Amino acid sequence: MKHVVELRNITKTYVIGEIQVKALRGISFGIAPGEFVAIMGASGSGKSTLMNILGCLDQPTAGEYYLNNREVSNLSAAELARLRNRELGFVFQSYNLLPRLDAIHNVELPLIYAGVGLAERKERALAALERVGLTERAKHRPVELSGGQQQRVAIARALINEPKLILADEPTGNLDTASSLEIMQIFQELNERRGITVIIVTHEEDIAAFSKRILRFRDGLLIEDAPVVGKGAATHEISR
Ligand SMILES: Nc1ncnc2c1ncn2[C@@H]1O[C@H](COP(=O)(O)OP(=O)(O)OP(=O)(O)O)[C@@H](O)[C@H]1O
Ligand SMILES: [Mg+2]
Repeated sequence: MKHVVELRNITKTYVIGEIQVKALRGISFGIAPGEFVAIMGASGSGKSTLMNILGCLDQPTAGEYYLNNREVSNLSAAELARLRNRELGFVFQSYNLLPRLDAIHNVELPLIYAGVGLAERKERALAALERVGLTERAKHRPVELSGGQQQRVAIARALINEPKLILADEPTGNLDTASSLEIMQIFQELNERRGITVIIVTHEEDIAAFSKRILRFRDGLLIEDAPVVGKGAATHEISR
């Protein structure tokens, strides 16, 4: 079966001196193209560890990881970097924008690494900013933007190489209710209109309700994998 992501018995053990932390203790699941998945679980249950592996930012201790049906644990660092840049979009809780660059220059960064020329970079960065409704903020630096706007810039940057998979680790963790709703509507639109596979980590049931499937973790194990019930409404109210 074709999966965007397929994990087989993935483990991750961090070793610090004498201490071993078993952050993931045998995780297996698949995610098909076009899915919208939320990952939930208590603090320390292994969610970010999993996201870092999914995003090829870290390697598992054991197990197999297939990204677009290709086993990635044997790839070189250069191949992984290329894969991250071309095939994946990342969104982080803390936005990770470069403070001295305005929105358009932040968004075009992945294109610089990909060797795209100046004119095309500008055009594509502006188009990506337009998609997240930030055209009039293109010249603003991160300090001149609200948290929600900064996160929209980060999403535009994640979209710039047209990834088929977007990974977001607590993308609304620093945002108020209204901004969280806007961000989740952007993810929902990317998923429903453009068929992008979306995987988000969240602590909020209301945020997870935007997804179509919830994976719940406890102590490094996947303890529940269930569809979101009552799916079909275009949007979901957030009440906190
Ligand atoms: N780089 C690291 N070195 C050592 N231990 C780590 C490292 N990163 C995470 N851990 C440990 O691995 C376990 C899982 O951490 P992880 O960050 O994946 O949790 P999480 O589910 O994302 O939690 P949170 O909801 O607080 O973000 C924790 O016990 C943590 O202390
Ligand atoms: Mg985390």
